Amino acid sequence: MISKKMNEVFNGQVNAELYSSYLYLSMSTWFSEKSLSGFASWMRAQAQEELFHSIKIIDYILERGGSIQLDTIEKPEGDWSSALEVIQETADHEAKVTGLINGLVDVALEERDHAANIFLQWFVAEQVEEESTVGEVVEKLKMIGDASAGMFHMDMEMGKRVFTPPAE
Ligand SMILES: [Fe+2]
Ligand SMILES: [Fe+2]
Repeated sequence: MISKKMNEVFNGQVNAELYSSYLYLSMSTWFSEKSLSGFASWMRAQAQEELFHSIKIIDYILERGGSIQLDTIEKPEGDWSSALEVIQETADHEAKVTGLINGLVDVALEERDHAANIFLQWFVAEQVEEESTVGEVVEKLKMIGDASAGMFHMDMEMGKRVFTPPAE
C-alpha cells in the first residue's frame, strides 16, 4: 500500500505531466500556424509522450492501491516570437520537470518506499534523454539563426519523429 504522502506527490506529478502535454499541444498548434509542420508534428509527439507519462503514473498509483485525484490543468501559454523561443521554453520546462522528478525520488527515499524509488528511476532516465534531445534542438536552432534554408531543412528533420509508446 502506498503512503498518503507518496500518493499525494504522485497525484501532483500526474497533473504536471498533463500540463506538459497541454503546453506541448499548444506549441504544436503554434508551429502549425507558422507553417512549420515538421516542428508541429514533433511537438505533437512530445505531447503524446507526456500524456503517456501521466497514464503510466496513474497505473502505478492504482497498482499500489492508492487513489487518483485529478486536478485542474493550468492554461498553457499560446504565443511565442520564434521557433527558438518555443524550443528554449521546452528545454527550460523539461529542466523544471527533472527537478520535480528528483523531488519525488526524495520523498520515496524519505518514506523508505523502495518500489516507488525503482518505478521513478524510469522517469529519471527519461528526463536525461529528454533534456539532451531538446538541448540539441536548441543548439541547432541557434546555429541556423535567420537562415531560412537551414530552417526549411530542420523542419523536415523534425517531422521524421514518430511517437511510439516507450516499452514498459
Ligand atoms: Fe514527462
Ligand atoms: Fe518531458
